Amino acid sequence: MAGTTAAAPAARKGEFLRENANKKDVRLMNIEAAKAVADAIRTSLGPRGADKMVAQADGHVIITNDGATILNKMTVEQPAAKMLVELAKSQDVVAGDGTTSVTVLAGALLKKSLELLERGVHPTIISDAFNLAVGRALGFLEAAALPVAAGDRDALVRAANTSLSSKVVHQYSSLLSPMAADCILAVSDPARPEATDLRDVRLVTKVGGTIDDSEMVDGLVLDQRAAKAASGPTRIENAKIALIQFQVSPPKSDIENNVIISDYAQMDRILKASRNGYAPEERNYILQLVKKIRASGANVLLIQKSILRDAVTDLSLHYLAKAKIMVVKDIEREDIEFISKTLGCSPIAHVDHMRADKLASAGLVEEVPVGSGRVVKVTGIEARGATATVLLRGSNSLVLEEAERSLHDALCVVRCLVQKRFLIAGGGSPEIELAVKLGQWAKTLVGMESVCVRAFAEALEIIPGTLAENAGMNPIEVVTELRRLHAAGHQHHGINVRKGSVTDMLEEKVVQPLLVTSSALSLATECVRMILKIDDIVPVR
Ligand SMILES: Nc1ncnc2c1ncn2[C@@H]1O[C@H](COP(=O)(O)OP(=O)(O)OP(=O)(O)O)[C@@H](O)[C@H]1O
Ligand SMILES: [Mg+2]
Repeated sequence: MAGTTAAAPAARKGEFLRENANKKDVRLMNIEAAKAVADAIRTSLGPRGADKMVAQADGHVIITNDGATILNKMTVEQPAAKMLVELAKSQDVVAGDGTTSVTVLAGALLKKSLELLERGVHPTIISDAFNLAVGRALGFLEAAALPVAAGDRDALVRAANTSLSSKVVHQYSSLLSPMAADCILAVSDPARPEATDLRDVRLVTKVGGTIDDSEMVDGLVLDQRAAKAASGPTRIENAKIALIQFQVSPPKSDIENNVIISDYAQMDRILKASRNGYAPEERNYILQLVKKIRASGANVLLIQKSILRDAVTDLSLHYLAKAKIMVVKDIEREDIEFISKTLGCSPIAHVDHMRADKLASAGLVEEVPVGSGRVVKVTGIEARGATATVLLRGSNSLVLEEAERSLHDALCVVRCLVQKRFLIAGGGSPEIELAVKLGQWAKTLVGMESVCVRAFAEALEIIPGTLAENAGMNPIEVVTELRRLHAAGHQHHGINVRKGSVTDMLEEKVVQPLLVTSSALSLATECVRMILKIDDIVPVR
């Protein structure tokens, strides 16, 4: 009795003494929680996978099939379950696609670990054996990968097609896949494919029309409209564009001014000066600015947004309109780099730096109506840099947002392929091939290692199994049939969702980059090994 009362205050301070049994419980609890997360998105794997409607607390609704997006929006509390969310994110960073696969794979590996733990295998043994197995699997995968010639556009389009086939917008893949391939080809340098940067591809979304109306624009598209307050021009041919970072407005004084007037004469002067609302200093200041801008030869101004003061005032717009200079304001800070690269000019930080050689030349700058809004298009750019712009259209924001995410996935897939030029067959064929090969290898091992490697091999079958299940086929039958075919040397056979049967995936043209599958395998294994090694959760306030 005395012992219990003595322990109570210590426990209140947050000091717990756990016994070994509890450590086992923590591990099991972690695995169960992470498995639950993986199970939640299992149904969205593959071309016949379901989509999820994500309802956010603020009332915003998203419809998506992207594993990383679903997990990212999910409210996950349990720390180990959060690790799966992070896992999907890392796959998104490394490969951009395969985020559902990586999570499902981790779930299957955790389920197998649970079975092994229940049979009394030590977690460290499982973890080490899984590490061994994944190394071997990656070796098999690389040996079987098909090399792609540099600039093979067809292969890039096919891979983008596979990635898009599982998305809500899959019926538009004949338009979007070539677009993804062309964007990446436009921004990548064959001599330095590893430097391909997705920030050089810009997706501008506009509601109105259908996805079919989307286009790749040979030039620049600005989401902003031209400033029209003083009926300035909205279309300029033979444009000389200045990308400026200063404001065409008078500086705001940061102290309050009091003007003390002592006689009528002074009052009269002030009234005269501000008859039309502007102080003469302000008018002069702006006139000087506009004069310098005009002297440089610029006829289009792109003005960076500033939080300190207005980019333009009514007065400056008036003078700029008189000088026939088109103005587009509110250019975001983070867009400056893209715009200056596209136009082949550098941003101008001060009006004194306005010179003709700092301007970009373009055939036409025009504000055009797109759907329910308007955009400014710059075409015929003279010194155009290696960037690509896609104007995405969709009938509503739900479709449009998902189209943007899907195109991003496709772009990532093409980038993977440009960086590491190897393709593998898809449709569950690589996973079953690895399962068969690892199974054979496990037979040559001894003891617990053999048991664990076999468990790892079986876990891989979750991908073809789930693809079949989601396509309405019998997963056990399909996986058994695939196992038989792969053991007999048909290494590219996978699930043909179109016919509801098992066929050669290369003939079906279902291919994916090696990098997507290899990174999914290694990241999932790494995450599972990490979860296995955790034996306690220490809450810290
Ligand atoms: N036409 C197809 N026939 C058979 N399998 C396909 C086809 N297209 C894609 N797949 C397979 O579907 C799986 C990919 O499904 P999905 O795109 O839903 O998930 P993911 O790529 O893992 O994650 P996410 O795209 O959400 O990041 C891959 O195993 C791929 O080989
Ligand atoms: Mg995908």
